[in-house]
Amino acid sequence: MSAEQLKQAAAQAALDYCLARTGNDAVIGIGTGSTVNHFITLLAPHRGRIGAAVASSEASAALLRQHRIPVVDLNSVAEVALYVDGADEINPALEMIKGGGGALTREKIVAAVAREFVCIADQSKWVEHLGKFPLPVEVIPMARSHVGRQLRALGAHPEWRQGAVTDNGNYLIDAHGLYPIAPARRLEERLNHIAGVVCNGLFALRPADVLLLARSGGVDTIRAR
Ligand code: A5P
Repeated sequence: MSAEQLKQAAAQAALDYCLARTGNDAVIGIGTGSTVNHFITLLAPHRGRIGAAVASSEASAALLRQHRIPVVDLNSVAEVALYVDGADEINPALEMIKGGGGALTREKIVAAVAREFVCIADQSKWVEHLGKFPLPVEVIPMARSHVGRQLRALGAHPEWRQGAVTDNGNYLIDAHGLYPIAPARRLEERLNHIAGVVCNGLFALRPADVLLLARSGGVDTIRAR
C-alpha cells in the first residue's frame, strides 16, 4: 500500500469513529495536513451528520468550505466533541510532535478544547521515542534570535523556516537534534517558558486519546499505554 492509501485508510477509520460517536449537531475539530485532507474529502458526503466544523488552519477552513461543510469560529461554540488531526511523530503514550505544516498553535488550542483527540496516521509516524522529526516552535518575529539561542542552550540545532509565516503572523523555528525527547512533558513546559515562544510542537501535556494507525495489514486502534 502506498503512503497515500495508508493515509486514506486512517481517514476512513476516523470517519467511521466520528459518525459512530457523535450526534447530528456535534461540532468537530478538524486538524491540518495531508492525512486530514483525506478526512475532509470523506466527510463531505456526510456533512448533514455534523453540526459544524472548527478548523485549525486557514488551509483546512478553505478546504472545508470548498466541500460545503460549515465552518464556525471556536469562540462561538461551547464544546468540541472530537478533534481529528494527524501527527509528524507519535509514541506509545500517544504524545506527538506536530507542526510540520506550521499549524501547531491553532492545533494545540483546538486539542485543548476537544473532549476527545483522535490522531490519524500512517505507520511511518509511529516511533518509540520522539525527536527525530525536528521540533517546530512558533515564535514572535522579534524574538527569533533570542529563542534560537535558548534552544541552542538546550542542546538543539535551531533552523529558521525562512519564508514561512504562520496563520497568526509569526515565524517558525525547527529544533533539530533533540532525539530522544524524554520526558516530553518536561521539555514542552520548558519551551513554553521561553519569552517569545508562542507554542511548541510537543503535544505531551495534552496527548491524543486514541490513535488510528494505518499499517499495510489494516488500521489499528491504539490507546495510550
Ligand atoms: C500540521 O501543522 C501538522 O501538525 C500535521 O498535523 C502533521 O504535520 C501531519 O501532517 P500530514 O498528515 O501531512 O503528515
